[in-house]
Amino acid sequence: MLAATYDNFIEVVTVQVPGGTLLDVACNNGYFPVSASLRGCSRAVGLDPGSRTILSVSVGALNAITGAKAEFLSGGYSSDHHLLYTAPDGVNATPFEETFDIVTNSALLCHMSEPLYFLSTLSRHARRALLIYSGFIEDDDYLFRYNSVSNWNVTLPFPNCFNDGTAMSIKLFRESMRLLGFKSVEQIAPPPTGLQDREPFAAMKRYGTMKAFLCLR
Ligand SMILES: C[S@@+](CC[C@H](N)C(=O)[O-])C[C@H]1O[C@@H](n2cnc3c(N)ncnc32)[C@H](O)[C@@H]1O
Repeated sequence: MLAATYDNFIEVVTVQVPGGTLLDVACNNGYFPVSASLRGCSRAVGLDPGSRTILSVSVGALNAITGAKAEFLSGGYSSDHHLLYTAPDGVNATPFEETFDIVTNSALLCHMSEPLYFLSTLSRHARRALLIYSGFIEDDDYLFRYNSVSNWNVTLPFPNCFNDGTAMSIKLFRESMRLLGFKSVEQIAPPPTGLQDREPFAAMKRYGTMKAFLCLR
């Protein structure tokens, strides 16, 4: 289910921007950049602040199994400074300023306390396309919805503690993308075997309805 959903996203975006470069922010095990490399991206980079030991090995293993040439970078998005950074040694962070034809982000917008700054940062790195997969709320207004601070985030300083299940209305998302210079914002239809209507996502009301949007300049 997860593979079908994620492969469908990467298929759609790589058909729109064939042979481009791709950055996946919050790549975790590297599924997106590996899939993008296999679909002809000239460079496919995953960025994640999780354990470098585990994630770089995971990306390396997926490359070895599939023949992909995905790259892994330690780093992520700083909510305090509204920028992407790399931290190769896991300690010393430097701003990451490269731009890519395509930027993808799956399941992190819903963990942001300040989603508009996050979208603005991602858009600065995206020359042609930005793909976002997150929970959204249906409303005819420009809305954010936060959840109560969960136990595992209660120690984070305000406002970063409000980071579990952030969702914005589709109307606010579309207008934000327009203001960030994207000419089209299309929802990517989930594949028949995808996650959209299945457990556990269907039951995760905290996250709103998971949807993917492809935004093109
Ligand atoms: C819910 S997982 C999503 C992983 C993957 N994108 C997917 O859709 O399967 C969230 C990921 O975001 C990463 N992450 C957490 N905070 C981050 C940040 N500030 N910047 C970038 N990545 C972050 C975590 O290490 C984790 O791999």
